[in-house]
Amino acid sequence: MSKQERSFIMIKPDGVQRGLVGEIIARFEKRGFKLVALKMIHESPEFLEKHYADLKGKPFFPGLVKYMSAGPVVAMVWEGRDAVKTGRVMLGATKPLESAPGTIRGDYAIDVGRNICHGSDSVESAEKEIKLWFPEGIIQYTSVVESQVF
Ligand code: TYD
Repeated sequence: MSKQERSFIMIKPDGVQRGLVGEIIARFEKRGFKLVALKMIHESPEFLEKHYADLKGKPFFPGLVKYMSAGPVVAMVWEGRDAVKTGRVMLGATKPLESAPGTIRGDYAIDVGRNICHGSDSVESAEKEIKLWFPEGIIQYTSVVESQVF
């Protein structure tokens, strides 16, 4: 069963630096998702450690936190049918050898440590990540995507 969901999608510092913000937003808009929150923010290593708390202890953790706090990111919340799973499909697999052409990572990344974008891996993590990144809350509005009648 498909569900209306919210996913936390983030353009990482390398995606911002490479000028891929518009491209990534366009893909989600064109797919039919509704943008419900967006901000550019340069976060501290301590904050990124919270975001990636589940990976603490992994050998790549210190490098990951350093990279993610090296520049601003674009933090977003996208809403729509199966937004979490479909968002992950649109991002592409974590490992560059497995990320299919046509996906964001498959089209723009060859290094797992510079993979441009983040997307929540479950509805539960999405809820946690949205609270962490948007403690100020999210605006409610009706979009054309929702009001279309067929
Ligand atoms: P993970 O949560 O496993 O992947 P995803 O971002 O696809 O949900 O890992 C988080 C990030 O950690 C990943 O996007 C890039 C980085 N990472 C590495 O730098 N090296 C690695 O070997 C792995 C697995 C991840």
